[in-house]
Amino acid sequence: MSKAFEKKILITGGAGFIGSHVVRLFVTKYPQYLIYNLDKLTYAGNLENLKDIETAPNYRFEKGDICDAELVSELFHQMQFDAVIHLAAESHVDRSIENPLEFIQTNILGTVSLLNAAKENWKGKLAGRQGGEQNKLFYHISTDEVYGSLGETGLFTETTPYDPRSPYSASKASSDHFVRAYENTYHLPTIISNCSNNYGPNHFPEKLIPLFINNIKHNKPLPVYGDGKYTRDWLYVIDHAVAIDTIFHQGKPGETYNIGGFNEWKNIDLIKLLCTIMDEKLGREKGTSEKLITYITDRPGHDRRYAIDSTKISKELGWKPSVTFEEGLERTVDWYLANEEWLDHVTSGNYQKYYEKMYLHRMKE
Ligand code: NAD
Ligand code: TYD
Repeated sequence: MSKAFEKKILITGGAGFIGSHVVRLFVTKYPQYLIYNLDKLTYAGNLENLKDIETAPNYRFEKGDICDAELVSELFHQMQFDAVIHLAAESHVDRSIENPLEFIQTNILGTVSLLNAAKENWKGKLAGRQGGEQNKLFYHISTDEVYGSLGETGLFTETTPYDPRSPYSASKASSDHFVRAYENTYHLPTIISNCSNNYGPNHFPEKLIPLFINNIKHNKPLPVYGDGKYTRDWLYVIDHAVAIDTIFHQGKPGETYNIGGFNEWKNIDLIKLLCTIMDEKLGREKGTSEKLITYITDRPGHDRRYAIDSTKISKELGWKPSVTFEEGLERTVDWYLANEEWLDHVTSGNYQKYYEKMYLHRMKE
């Protein structure tokens, strides 16, 4: 059935935040590719994120766990994938502090299970590594958090030594090491990209920006960790999806690319900007939302500053972000306000219990 497609691409974690934007971009831009989305549909995965493309002739979805080595190997055997874009992961630092084992399971063992299936299935089918046409690719999506925490100055480059400091970043760093080990030992063609903090539509409301949009909407306190002066480098999720497309098509196997927007914000400055936008959009008096800011006990081991140097991808591949932070944040707020059903859906079920466990007790400390 899928013989007519030019490439068959396995995308893991395609029902999540970033994955859903990558799946949509590839399905709509490349009708000649078959896009196969494998996702376990954890709390973070939501098929509503892909409603508009679910019946596209070049799209398939399967609910499944990347840690299930038998399932993954059988899928490779059946589908004969040409490439993998691997996004499936546990992705929230606070959850990793509560439950590190789940992160080791999915982020490390799940990645190795995929690497192994690709290695076995592509044995004897790889084009010459030097000058040969690139016919197979394992593209691993990672984070800037593997590089650790910066002081007041400096940027993460592709050669910054790894120094992960949370269970989440340690699990992602380990998965990156396994990808490089498979490249070196088995000559699996791989690429890794390490991106800064993303924001935009479909972001689960446990991360800073969507959590605070939801809380402002419901007049709930905005829990700011520590002194609020922690710094993150923010990138609009669709710009990340475009960077992934660019790297997938033009990146060199064996290389690493950092992705970021040279867009650093101290949390408290970002939160104040968000409050101003929300006041305007909700027709509230200026200053109303800022009154919800509540400083709470800090996150244990909180990384002070992340900042990405994305010179390599812009010079070598010509990628750069398309929206300013102000535009992107306004678009994000507009999306959440226009998609109340999505927000209500993802905050039903166990969400309230999670929220109480993660934030409410810290507000009382
Ligand atoms: P997310 O938590 O929103 O989505 C993760 C997806 O993976 C979900 O759809 C979930 O159902 C799926 N998944 C989880 N465990 C699985 C398993 N065992 N088998 C199959 N599917 C499983 O995450 P995200 O924010 O979209 O991040 C995607 C990737 O990008 C991750 O690898 C993350 O480390 C990386 N990343 C994220 C950011 C960011 O700011 N969100 C920045 C840089 C890199
Ligand atoms: P987050 O969105 O969890 O991403 P990450 O920890 O991967 O960077 O957090 C972004 C920043 O916002 C980080 O410095 C922690 C801070 N933060 C808060 O102050 N309060 C919150 O409720 C959350 C979720 C995050």
